[in-house]
Amino acid sequence: MSSKLSTFICQNCGTETSQYFGKCLNCNSWNSIVEEIKSKRSKYQDIKNNKKAITFNEISSTKTSRFTSGFREFDRVLGGGIVPGSVVLLGGEPGIGKSTIVLQSAGKISLNEKVLYVTGEESLEQVKIRWERLNQNSIDLKIFAETNLSQIIEEIRSVNPCFAIIDSIQAIHNHEMESSPGSVSQVRACSSELQNLAKEKNIALLIIGHVTKDGALAGPKTLEHLVDVVINFEGDNISSHRLLRGIKNRFGSTFEIGIFEMLEDGLREIKNPSLIFTDKENIPGVTTTITNEGTRQFAVDIQALVNKTFYSNPRRTTTGININRLHQILAVIEKHVGIKLSEFDCYVATGGGFEINDPSSDLGVAISILSSLKNIPPLESSSFIGELGLSGQVRKSNNLRKKIEEAARLGIKNIVVPKLEEDLKNNFKNLINIKEISNIKEAFDSCLLD
Ligand code: TYD
Ligand code: MG
Repeated sequence: MSSKLSTFICQNCGTETSQYFGKCLNCNSWNSIVEEIKSKRSKYQDIKNNKKAITFNEISSTKTSRFTSGFREFDRVLGGGIVPGSVVLLGGEPGIGKSTIVLQSAGKISLNEKVLYVTGEESLEQVKIRWERLNQNSIDLKIFAETNLSQIIEEIRSVNPCFAIIDSIQAIHNHEMESSPGSVSQVRACSSELQNLAKEKNIALLIIGHVTKDGALAGPKTLEHLVDVVINFEGDNISSHRLLRGIKNRFGSTFEIGIFEMLEDGLREIKNPSLIFTDKENIPGVTTTITNEGTRQFAVDIQALVNKTFYSNPRRTTTGININRLHQILAVIEKHVGIKLSEFDCYVATGGGFEINDPSSDLGVAISILSSLKNIPPLESSSFIGELGLSGQVRKSNNLRKKIEEAARLGIKNIVVPKLEEDLKNNFKNLINIKEISNIKEAFDSCLLD
């Protein structure tokens, strides 16, 4: 018993309406609404309810049964490995390396567990070419090239893997629906069927999704609430570095990042990120800061270029640092060091364009700007940590002990920090020279080479 039902769905935000509008009532985008016809079935007619409510004691804990993705960096972002029965959405721009990381991971997992890789975008031969590039030695990984959802579900049921991959959700098609693959309703319907299967059979499922230009997951955002974990794979076409960033995680924190490098034979983990975001040369306009990323601390360079402006409005641009943060730092320098920065253009970029969100990078940014302006290098072999307050004071930073430890481990000789407790200072007595400062004026007077 089924009848056709027509709904109108915004392809940008996923809002459903019963009639057509030229402009979406929710996200205000124009011409984004598309009519979609789905077959209406009374879902509840033939459900035999044989489930019963149970207590926590009767539920087996999945905490200990996580399995590794084969990459420590990937496991870290997942919160310590893959949880059986969980659904992970891996998003990223086309060409960033999603299929590559997932195939490498599948190869490693399949050494111990049953894994099924479903490719909807590439033929079996294409996947094989990639596989040969990746130097994997598993022989048990199962590949299935298909775009039809029912066939995929049937195959997953028959293989009954521990881990299944769908590459990608935009290529999969539920033939009961008339909309085209990749549309919001297709993406949503396919994902929810796959998710039900994952939960029913306790299969860990990884769904790949391409992102649109504005950064929303296509089938825009509509999958995020459905799945357990959302991870973004980021990077740019110029550099070979790639970051895995957790956006949502029902089983762990979203602060962690995983760092990789794309090589000729696939992705390699970067275990010592401090080395790739810094350069040892001591030149005007470049400082090093130690930033907090999840449970890790690592060194990143901050470069500034300050030039006399030829514009009525001086130019300010940033890469890796929030532009509003730069405006605030410039205002603090202008007011508390007494330098008229409105006459200068100012460009700030982090090493490798790494996105720093830790406010303790302020001091490094400020010293880079002053160093470039004066054309004097900063203190030799130094690192700067501290958040700048609006009244010019250098404020305490999170995890200062760990940051100093990382600087000492890297062999940095001087570290400039806000005022410290005595016992913390004594800890590092012979390891690194600690210079305490309380405000930006003091930093300016003492942190550039004489
Ligand atoms: P791919 O995993 O196909 O991206 P996605 O699935 O996100 O669309 O990665 C494609 C890019 O990665 C392509 O530009 C080639 C490059 N690449 C390497 O540099 N080394 C490799 O070993 C592989 C397999 C791909
Ligand atoms: Mg791909």
